[in-house]
Amino acid sequence: MLLEIMAKMEVKTSLLDNMIGVGDMVLLEPLNEETFINNLKKRFDHSEIYTYIGSVVISVNPYRSLPIYSPEKVEEYRNRNFYELSPHIFALSDEAYRSLRDQDKDQCILITGESGAGKTEASKLVMSYVAAVCGKGAEVNQVKEQLLQSNPVLEAFGNAKTVRNDNSSRFGKYMDIEFDFKGDPLGGVISNYLLEKSRVVKQPRGERNFHVFYQLLSGASEELLNKLKLERDFSRYNYLSLDSAKVNGVDDAANFRTVRNAMQIVGFMDHEAESVLAVVAAVLKLGNIEFKPESRVNGLDESKIKDKNELKEICELTGIDQSVLERAFSFRTVEAKQEKVSTTLNVAQAYYARDALAKNLYSRLFSWLVNRINESIKAQTKVRKKVMGVLDIYGFEIFEDNSFEQFIINYCNEKLQQIFIELTLKEEQEEYIREDIEWTHIDYFNNAIICDLIENNTNGILAMLDEECLRPGTVTDETFLEKLNQVCATHQHFESRMSKCSRFLNDTSLPHSCFRIQHYAGKVLYQVEGFVDKNNDLLYRDLSQAMWKASHTLIKSLFPEGNPAKINLKRPPTAGSQFKASVATLMKNLQTKNPNYIRCIKPNDKKAAHIFNEALVCHQIRYLGLLENVRVRRAGYAFRQAYEPCLERYKMLCKQTWPHWKGPARSGVEVLFNELEIPVEEYSFGRSKIFIRNPRTLFKLEDLRKQRLEDLATLIQKIYRGWKCRTHFLLMKKSQVVIAAWFRRYAQQKRYQQTKSSALVIQSYIRGWKARKILRELKHQKRCKEAVTTIAAYWHGTQVRREYRKFFRANAGKKIYEFTLQRIVQKYFLEMKNKMPSLSPIDKNWPSRPYLFLDSTHKELKRIFHLWRCKKYRDQFTDQQKLIYEEKLEASELFKDKKALYPSSVGQPFQGAYLEINKNPKYKKLKDAIEEKIIIAEVVNKINRANGKSTSRIFLLTNNNLLLADQKSGQIKSEVPLVDVTKVSMSSQNDGFFAVHLKEGSEAASKGDFLFSSDHLIEMATKLYRTTLSQTKQKLNIEISDEFLVQFRQDKVCVKFIQGNQKNGSVPTCKRKNNRLLEVAVP
Ligand SMILES: Nc1ncnc2c1ncn2[C@@H]1O[C@H](COP(=O)(O)OP(=O)(O)OP(=O)(O)O)[C@@H](O)[C@H]1O
Ligand SMILES: [Mg+2]
Repeated sequence: MLLEIMAKMEVKTSLLDNMIGVGDMVLLEPLNEETFINNLKKRFDHSEIYTYIGSVVISVNPYRSLPIYSPEKVEEYRNRNFYELSPHIFALSDEAYRSLRDQDKDQCILITGESGAGKTEASKLVMSYVAAVCGKGAEVNQVKEQLLQSNPVLEAFGNAKTVRNDNSSRFGKYMDIEFDFKGDPLGGVISNYLLEKSRVVKQPRGERNFHVFYQLLSGASEELLNKLKLERDFSRYNYLSLDSAKVNGVDDAANFRTVRNAMQIVGFMDHEAESVLAVVAAVLKLGNIEFKPESRVNGLDESKIKDKNELKEICELTGIDQSVLERAFSFRTVEAKQEKVSTTLNVAQAYYARDALAKNLYSRLFSWLVNRINESIKAQTKVRKKVMGVLDIYGFEIFEDNSFEQFIINYCNEKLQQIFIELTLKEEQEEYIREDIEWTHIDYFNNAIICDLIENNTNGILAMLDEECLRPGTVTDETFLEKLNQVCATHQHFESRMSKCSRFLNDTSLPHSCFRIQHYAGKVLYQVEGFVDKNNDLLYRDLSQAMWKASHTLIKSLFPEGNPAKINLKRPPTAGSQFKASVATLMKNLQTKNPNYIRCIKPNDKKAAHIFNEALVCHQIRYLGLLENVRVRRAGYAFRQAYEPCLERYKMLCKQTWPHWKGPARSGVEVLFNELEIPVEEYSFGRSKIFIRNPRTLFKLEDLRKQRLEDLATLIQKIYRGWKCRTHFLLMKKSQVVIAAWFRRYAQQKRYQQTKSSALVIQSYIRGWKARKILRELKHQKRCKEAVTTIAAYWHGTQVRREYRKFFRANAGKKIYEFTLQRIVQKYFLEMKNKMPSLSPIDKNWPSRPYLFLDSTHKELKRIFHLWRCKKYRDQFTDQQKLIYEEKLEASELFKDKKALYPSSVGQPFQGAYLEINKNPKYKKLKDAIEEKIIIAEVVNKINRANGKSTSRIFLLTNNNLLLADQKSGQIKSEVPLVDVTKVSMSSQNDGFFAVHLKEGSEAASKGDFLFSSDHLIEMATKLYRTTLSQTKQKLNIEISDEFLVQFRQDKVCVKFIQGNQKNGSVPTCKRKNNRLLEVAVP
């Protein structure tokens, strides 16, 4: 396993790596048939179908698809050295292509092998590889496509199912692919060799006619079939063998479409393709023409066409006059020296003529097809071209019955072998010279002698045959054999029963009418029967002329010799000489090119995978001369290799060269070989290559290398394991750091995330709170705004309503009410104006109120009115009057309802100076004594304190004093300052009695309080009160009581009022009862 890995790891791989058996037969040791076959078998069993003999590729048909042709494989083999990878057809293709492109050497790839060995497949693989690796581009791709698509067309017309191969090529094909200097394909030329035309009219048991017949009948549309006057039924056609009309795994109908498509790609016009199919149809129908004998008068049998219907249809299809064709089938005209002799044909001859026509028609059609394809694929430029030729031709054929065809084929193979030997040896020799190696003679079999036996112009077998054919007189195959017996008898490779020198003269195993040629690949016994005929390849002139007369242009062009104007009495060249010429051309062509060989081997006869029939393979190895091949290759040195790769491969075997050799590779190899003690005769040093004589030496080297590789592997293993452990450890360490870092990062991240999310939460709360606050604020503002708006709205509403209320019906009631009210009030006031009572304040009259609701107003009005008239009344008073009324008012306040005397005083105006002192001279002295203004001057009764008797006295009141004067004299008796008057007492009765109380201790009070009686008591008391108030700013105490105390000297005396009798009138009578009581009797 490790070795494998190491081998793969090596930059340069080698064919020697992982070999199954040996990849190159040159290295086979020991070399013999058995080891050769075993090696092939071993490799075949491991699906290694390719093996080299030097640069020759042996290919064993696997009969199954292997995964070794993929585009990846193409890439693998691309630009690699031939011996670098395991043997492959791609390696050979690559080598050939690169040598063509880079070294400007024209190449040919010769693919040989027996039928079913895989030649055609190999040629296709080569072409597809080259197509894959050569240049690209639209134009180049079209060329490639045309070259590749020529294959299906040619295979349809040239291949058939045989017992050996379901897709057997029944023609030899050589194709030149042309390239420009860059290696891009320009076009190609195809040459075809020897189509097996006998197949058209007859097929061996278990075989089929050419594919195209079956494809046409299965795949053509009804319309096309009608046009070609064909029926789909195979059994309708004599030329189609029925026993194997169907081939397993082949879909003829699908293939027909592929072919039509390929024809289109290659460049066939539709009408061309149709005329080709018309010819095919004509060939098929020709087979159905049958003849019957008809006796003539001269006793000879003449053939007649049985059913002319088919003939008619053929003529319609090809545009030939029916009578012309009918005649051509019945007569044969021989012209000699201006003489025309017509002979009738018997039935056998008629059938022969028919078949000859069919064969010729088909084979000429095939050649035309090849030419037509060539026309399409030919290079369009005239620049110098590099050429790669691919030759797919039948290999050696040795059957039970070998006839002219096998002879021709084997001749061709003989020639190819010769070229091979020549070129291989030449190359070998050239290499020795190039490498400065001494040339040793190589013993090998040169088949030039056999070629000479066949192709020699004077006594070669082909020349003999031609001679026989041209010879006048009766010519048969036997006469030909006789001739051979005479001429070639001495040839060591020719044998026949009759040959005089035959070592096997008595060998009765050699039948009569046979000859045997000892080909390079083995002895082949040829039946001489048919040689002459096949060589002649006769087509009666009548038929070719009839064909030429066809209006179908393709058919006409196929038979140019039928043109009477170009009548040529010379016989056409024989098939043998034609073939010889074309083989000569081919050989000449090949000789100028660098050959590459692919030798195909068929492992079994069953077309089955995994079966390796050793006997069959042995047979092929023999006739392909493969052992011979190896021997030639190994004649000098079995193995050669350039110094660099050799040193690279084996340098580990020597300490000096391992691991690096500094110096020329050649000296490295020298050192290496010396060190390994390889015998000197085993190798030689060329200029650029080391030559190893024996494969054993190489294998020894390989073994040493393998062993050394194992040691190295162990070493590498050791170092690798150490490295691995160390790396692992370092990795673990690194990983640990990484993990720790990641973990820390993760932890930090998590923490950070947590912090972040907490911060976010807090933030969100704060933001929320703020937002809510703002929201609240905003809401509040909004509400305010709304409120303002609402209020404004209401206000405006109110304003508007107020403005417009008057227009509202709803307000009418109130309005009416107000209006009515106003009207009532107005009316009330107006009526009141008229009904006003007098302006007298004492007038009690007042109109009644009209409405209850005006009650308070009415009362108020009354009050106002009364106040107003009072004011009016007052306003008309003089100051004096005002004073009088003031006094009166004062008197009212003091006495009203308290003193029974008061009402009688109301009507009496207060006069004050009842005594006109100023005027009365009696009181002149008094008047003079009083300087002040006199407020009261009246005569009063002064009551004697002791007895109660009254004396008149003038009572005078001035602003400051109270004076008592004698009435007669006017002499002042007493003078009391007002400040000393403390109180005035009186009864509630209707009497004028009153007491003036004096301040205790005052001068005036020494006699005690005064008792008076006067009719003007009310006036006097009032004036005394007012004067005292204005002078002393003290309210004089007025006591109204029916019992009060007075001060007489030191005594307190009670004045008691009692009800008296009426005799005294209104004057009260006082009586001092005791010192404590003074009784006053009032009326
Ligand atoms: N490399 C391959 N891989 C898979 N199958 C293959 C390979 N080569 C050949 N075959 C199979 O073998 C069959 C025969 O191959 P092919 O037609 O190439 O033979 P041939 O040598 O050309 O025969 P003939 O001489 O009759 O033409 C193919 O149809 C295919 O099935
Ligand atoms: Mg083929």
